[in-house]
This record gives sequence, C-alpha cells and structure tokens, in this order.
Amino acid sequence: MAPAKLILDGKEYELPTVVGSEGEVGIDISRFRQKSGSITLDPGYGNTGSCKSDITFIDGEHGVLRYRGYPIEQVAERSSFPEVCYLLINGELPNRQQLDEFSGNLTYHSMLHEDMKKFFEGFPPTAHPMAILSAMVASLSTYYPNSSREELRDLNITRLLAKIITIAAFSYKKSIGQPFIYPRNDLHYTKNFLHMMFAVPAEPYEVSPVVDRALNMLLILHADHEQNCSTSTVRMVGSSEANIYASIAAGICALWGPLHGGANQKVIEMLRLIHDDGGDYKKYVDMAKDKDNGFRLMGFGHRVYKNFDPRARILKKAADDVLAEMKISNPLLDIAKNLEKVALEDEYFVERRLYPNVDFYSGIIYSAIGIPVNMFTVMFALGRLPGWIAHWKEMRDDPKGRINRPRQIYTGQTERSYLPIEER
Ligand code: CMC
Repeated sequence: MAPAKLILDGKEYELPTVVGSEGEVGIDISRFRQKSGSITLDPGYGNTGSCKSDITFIDGEHGVLRYRGYPIEQVAERSSFPEVCYLLINGELPNRQQLDEFSGNLTYHSMLHEDMKKFFEGFPPTAHPMAILSAMVASLSTYYPNSSREELRDLNITRLLAKIITIAAFSYKKSIGQPFIYPRNDLHYTKNFLHMMFAVPAEPYEVSPVVDRALNMLLILHADHEQNCSTSTVRMVGSSEANIYASIAAGICALWGPLHGGANQKVIEMLRLIHDDGGDYKKYVDMAKDKDNGFRLMGFGHRVYKNFDPRARILKKAADDVLAEMKISNPLLDIAKNLEKVALEDEYFVERRLYPNVDFYSGIIYSAIGIPVNMFTVMFALGRLPGWIAHWKEMRDDPKGRINRPRQIYTGQTERSYLPIEER
C-alpha cells in the first residue's frame, strides 16, 4: 500500500503503511518524531497499534475472534483447554503425541514447592484471591531461575501453567479454612483443578463431566484477546526483560480492575442487587445512562466489539445448557436476559453500540459449577494465562523488540525558580 501523507505546519511527511494478513492497515509513525519533532497523541491507546502479532485476530465490527486463525466458535466447541494453550503458545494445533506430552507435563509440574505453602499462612483469610495469585506468581521467580535458554524458558512456561491452578485452589482453600488438597497425577488439567478446589480429605470426590466440560469452555473463551489491558501490561513489563513470572504477575494485577477482568465479579453483584431490589431493570438501565451517577452496566460495552461479542453469544447459550444439564435454576439468569433485552432496545445503548461482553454471562456458569464470586476474576486469569504467555514469548522472540516507552505531551508548569520555604 502507498505511504500515507501527513501535513504538519505546512510541511508534508511520508509515512510508511503496514498491511496485516486480514487487510488491516496501519500507518507506521515510529520514525515520525525523528523527522518532525512531533509525536502522535492517543490517550487510552484507542487507535494505536503497539506491535505486530500472529496470535489472535479480532474484527470488532463483525464479532469475529480467531486464535491462530481458528474461529472461536469451533475452538470452544471442539477443543480442550490444554490444546488451546498449546495452540496459542506454539502457533499450531498439537498432534496426539504432542498433546499427550504437553498435558502430561502440566500435570507433572503442578505441585508447589512445600515451602511455598508457608506464604499462604501470612495472608489474612479475607485476602482477595487475586492479590494472593499475583504475589504467589511473582514468588515463583524466587524458586525457578530466569533463563533465556530455550529449554529452560519452556520449562518455566510449563511450570507457570501447571502451578497456577494449584496456587488458585490453595488460595480458595485458605479463604474457607480447609486443608490444601494436593494435585493428582492421574487427573488432567481442569479435573485436577476442580479436585483441588472441591475435594475434602474425609470424602471421595468425583469431578462431574458436565462441570469439567463447562470449565474447559470458559477457560478457552478467555484464553486470548490480543492487546487488551492485561496483555499489554505483560508485554510492557516483559519488554524491560523482566522474567516471565514478574511479567505475568503484573498482568494479573491489571486484570483485577473492574473495567477489565474484575467485571465478572461486579456483574453478579449487580444482578444480585437488581434481584434483591425487586427486579426493576429499567431503573438500573436509567442509572447507567445518567452521567452524574457513576453506575455502569457491568458486563456491557467493549473497546473493540461494536456489534456483538462472540464469546458472550456462546456463553449465553452455554448458561442455559449448563444450568439445564445440572438441573439448577438461577433467577439471576432471567434477570441477566431481561436486562440485556431492555438495554439492547434502549437508544443510549444502541447509539453507543454497547452489547453484553464476555463477563455478562460467565459468572452465572461459574456459580453453577460451584466457583465462589470472589474467585471469578482468578478464573479469568487462569484462562488468560496462555494468551499472556504467547504474547510474552512473541515479544521476546522479536529481533526488533525494544523496551516499551511511550511519549507524552507535557502540560505542567514551565520553568520557574525554586523558592525557599519562608517565601512560599
Ligand atoms: N454502561 C453505561 N455506559 C457505558 C458503558 C456501560 N457499561 N460502557 C460504555 N458506556 C458509555 C460511556 O459512558 C461512553 O458514553 P459517552 O460517549 O456518552 O461518554 C460510551 O459508552 C463509550 O464508552 P467508553 O468508556 O469511552 O468506552 P471504552 O472503550 O473506553 O471502555 C469498557 C470499554 C469495557 C471499559 C466500558 O464499556 C465499560 O466500562 N464497561 C463496563 C465494564 C465491563 O464490562 N468490562 C469488561 C470488558 S470485557 C472483558 C475484558 O476484556 O476485560
């Protein structure tokens, strides 16, 4: 594609263009400052490409999401979470032998160093599991040395994927005062997690296949979403050559916020509030429209999707199916559906193209499979981990990679002289 032309202060600059494999066009401004002395300004990075990436494609106008080219609908229906981890991190679907080896390693490395159990003792029982998760993930770097040697780097990636489910389950057990349940080598990834979460020493525990299937699907739907806030954080921190554990711990903190992964917890809290307040959807839709109110319809709206979020579509149907299969009825599902209907017919939401996002229905399924509300965002983190890892690896393998360091437009005081304290 021909270069773009930009006229600044009467002078014309040519800027190279970049075209992606799906036809997306970018204007490369990386040398613009050297030529013109000016920068581009884009608060919130709404229109800034921070990198080229081969991992995930999103077309927000048409509700398209693909992992390494595979449509999310196919992957969610036919794949398992370990298979998706392999796909995102390595670029291709594994064959049977590769998958068995990869899954086996995830089981084999799922134990935590015994000393790490002591860390859990230091947290108060009320600690939010996201705080524990990020602290424990960063702490893994004290046990496992950082290395740029490929086999050691891959081993650290495996350890991270394997141990995060044990950390998550232990943080839950700690919060309810039950003994930790150790991982078992005869269980695959998701079953192992459910076993560590819900088994108790005194009783046998069998993982329900419905629950296992639902969990696989939920994790797959969260597995990657290109340059979102937490993934960009992982890339940002990793660009300083910080180790993988530190980079992922930073991503977990970014995910925690209610505008990002923390929204799934907020959605259920909002649905409960509406339910307990008599189910008046209109009142809450009106509150969300009122700019002085500060209330937002949680689980609604997305920076990229302006038509529908394909993950929310899959989850809406899955919520019906899972609840029916488990013979559970949850009044919050009806509240959610009615709220969606009222909002989608409202001019405010139509005009701004605000639709349910991935967090709107996921909490109802998490609740059905027994996950407590304060663990919802942890579940998002478990799902997003392979995406973070894939992006960290892609960034580190890029021979042209540099430390991430945006510019700014300074709007503060111009130069002034220091005043002694008596004269202020
Ligand atoms: N309720 C009411 N109004 C909203 C909402 C909402 N949920 N979302 C956006 N708006 C309005 C917003 O006030 C603004 O209105 P106006 O143009 O009059 O100022 C307009 O829609 C555009 O919103 P924005 O905040 O500029 O959009 P953004 O791209 O910066 O933010 C968002 C995207 C997801 C943070 C936002 O839609 C939001 O806060 N949603 C609720 C939280 C949520 O569900 N987050 C999960 C996101 S999906 C999972 C993930 O990737 O983390």
